[in-house]
Amino acid sequence: MIEFVLENRTGLVIGAAILWCVYAFNLVVHRLYFHPLAKFPGPKIAAATQWYETYFDIVKKGGGQFTFEVKRMHKKYGPIVRINPHELHIDDPAYYEVVYPTNKPVDKLEFFSHQFNMPDTVAPTCPAALHRSRRQALAPMFSRKRIIEHGSSIQHIVDQLSYHLDNEHVGTGVPTNISHMWAASVTDVIINIVFGEPSHYLDAPAFSDPFPLAVRNISQLTHTLNHFGFLMRKVPLTWLKPFLPDLRCFLGFRDTLEAKISLLMREDRKQDFENSAVRTLFHEMMDSKLSPQDLRLQRVVDEAMLMIGAGIESSKQALTVACFYVLTDPEIEARLRAELEAGIPDPEQMPHFQELESLEYLEAVMNEALRLSMGAVQRLPRIRRDTHLTYGAWTIPANTPVSQDNYSNNLNDVVFPEPDRFLPSRWLGNPKVPATKPLVKDGILPAEERPLGHYMTSFSKGTRMCLGTTSVPCLNLAKADLLVSLAMLFRKHKMRLHESSSEEDVKMAYDMFVPQPKKDSKGVFVIFEK
Ligand code: HEM
Repeated sequence: MIEFVLENRTGLVIGAAILWCVYAFNLVVHRLYFHPLAKFPGPKIAAATQWYETYFDIVKKGGGQFTFEVKRMHKKYGPIVRINPHELHIDDPAYYEVVYPTNKPVDKLEFFSHQFNMPDTVAPTCPAALHRSRRQALAPMFSRKRIIEHGSSIQHIVDQLSYHLDNEHVGTGVPTNISHMWAASVTDVIINIVFGEPSHYLDAPAFSDPFPLAVRNISQLTHTLNHFGFLMRKVPLTWLKPFLPDLRCFLGFRDTLEAKISLLMREDRKQDFENSAVRTLFHEMMDSKLSPQDLRLQRVVDEAMLMIGAGIESSKQALTVACFYVLTDPEIEARLRAELEAGIPDPEQMPHFQELESLEYLEAVMNEALRLSMGAVQRLPRIRRDTHLTYGAWTIPANTPVSQDNYSNNLNDVVFPEPDRFLPSRWLGNPKVPATKPLVKDGILPAEERPLGHYMTSFSKGTRMCLGTTSVPCLNLAKADLLVSLAMLFRKHKMRLHESSSEEDVKMAYDMFVPQPKKDSKGVFVIFEK
């Protein structure tokens, strides 16, 4: 046999190459002419091969460019486009509630399940039923009652931030990196709420503890994990440590967490755990209806890691965007400060965040920051197994991944005129979007008149929307943290933007699941004044 192979190797190689070409030719012909999506508009090359997406995700400009390419496709082909062999993308905010329904089972796409290398956690779980049980186990952590109870601990952490500013930054003339500052502050808030204990990232000199900062840099791996997941799954992440210093710090945090959780889960500690005064993520998981398989140590640790990763980058970015734009526009800054001074007469007595909700301009600033920071910016595909969908004249077969994205929604120029501008005033007076015309060229008519907030999709919507939010407007962890943080900063501190910072430090240049600015951005810098 070996002799036969050696003697005929040239012929065998040519034969294998011919077979591969025939297979590839058949595959492409099937995708272009016989696939259930063959009739949908879009570039033929994207319909023929997934490598088209890979090129924009990983190669072009160093990667993270596919979201921009999808937008370009829509400009050319209209609001519904086949963006790869298997998936449709829709650029029409009026259709968002159909793709992301609140009361229908939706699956996620296997392709994205290794995106964070934690495929068994709630966010990347594909089947709707399994996702539901995993989400239900975590949901009590984020109930309205629980977040209100946490109000004082959020305030306490934000007060510590203010203390550090007063004692280490104000009047020094040294620029403070507020991207780092917010990363440290939101990490302390999230860890406090999820694990019920302080973490002290705010105490690091110049807010530069590597862990909160590593979360952002880890997202650089996201596209490689998607496109080459089949390879990456074979390589333990620990092997990549020497090449990715941030990974070392991330995995170090994971090891500490694992040690802590395995201690909590020990049989001889059961009594202490159950009697503990503080309820943590682990209490919720242990008391839930999760299967023993879902309560195994590795999965519990991964779920905790996901919770931290999910909250840090998006909250940090929203706060950084808010500060940058407020400080670039004296009118916006003056109006915000005036409202805070009237609403909070004594800055040493900051109100509970529920009271901050009545400050209309503060909330408008937060909403505008959430809109422009966009949360997760990569498209979020959903799959309906139970039924086909109808978009205008198009029938979308059941089992088809369909996606929309926040880049298109939050920057839609019918819903948000002058979409690139930071205009908090667009949120004042409970504005509505009428259902009299489509929101994109050749789009469908909205089902009915909706409040403007309906179209801001930074937290996504439906059964798989952000867990850091609830259906009650504003009463949720993510928004509570943003309101308390912004109120403290602009009520208690004076500051100006450092000349090294520009809009390029907050504007999306790369889609790394979360939006990232130009590669050499060091963050937004501010000088705190007396
Ligand atoms: C400004 C702040 C935030 C924004 C804009 C945001 C945005 C989002 C978005 C768009 C998703 C959907 C992702 C997907 O479909 O794959 C999501 C999911 C999620 N978020 Fe957030 N998030 C924020 C803060 C937080 C916080 C503070 C936490 C908790 C500590 C959190 C926990 C989660 C979890 C657990 C999921 C997965 C939910 C599920 O799959 O059912 N997020 N978030």
